[in-house]
Amino acid sequence: MEYSQDNSLEILLSEEEIIARVSRLGEEISRDYANVDDLVLVSVLRGSVYFVVDLSRCLTVPFTLDFIGINKYGNTKDSMGIVRITKDLDVNISGKNVLLLEDIVDTGLTLNYLLKNLRTRNPLSIRVCIFLDMPGRRIVDVPVDYRGVEMQDVFVVGYGLDYQERYRNLKYIAALKKD
Ligand code: IMP
Repeated sequence: MEYSQDNSLEILLSEEEIIARVSRLGEEISRDYANVDDLVLVSVLRGSVYFVVDLSRCLTVPFTLDFIGINKYGNTKDSMGIVRITKDLDVNISGKNVLLLEDIVDTGLTLNYLLKNLRTRNPLSIRVCIFLDMPGRRIVDVPVDYRGVEMQDVFVVGYGLDYQERYRNLKYIAALKKD
């Protein structure tokens, strides 16, 4: 692979470890939603796509899949990490049970914005499932119902996560040492 000789990458989570954690999440969610109708998985573009593809294939309950696209500017509480929706949902989530899927929660600003936005659409319920959690970098408190892995404060790439649009396609998650 193009990046295999890239010594600025330090592998933190192997492909096998990712698969194991995603399938455990899938079992948990399938159990919790076994008797729930109208489940809508909302995947946040673009980072969560890899996670959603794997997780959704581990689910044994019916669901509708939809995507929401965002751009985030700023990373402080004052700027409130201004988020702009670049692609809205196609599905009407009013009266539906929404499971919001994110690749990583870091400051929490993006998730906080998304939850506020989605709640105005009157879903019956809304829960949050994330693959990576970095609680040490939180600026705003956000509810997380399902989490794959908790990590220390490092910048990570792979499994959908990018640095300037690179590294998304890595099958593992690695810390990126930026020069
Ligand atoms: P938050 O708003 O700070 O919680 O960050 C959410 C978004 O920032 C994620 O959906 C990612 O797109 C991006 N992000 C945050 N931390 C990282 C990281 O360590 N690597 C790659 N992207 C990140």
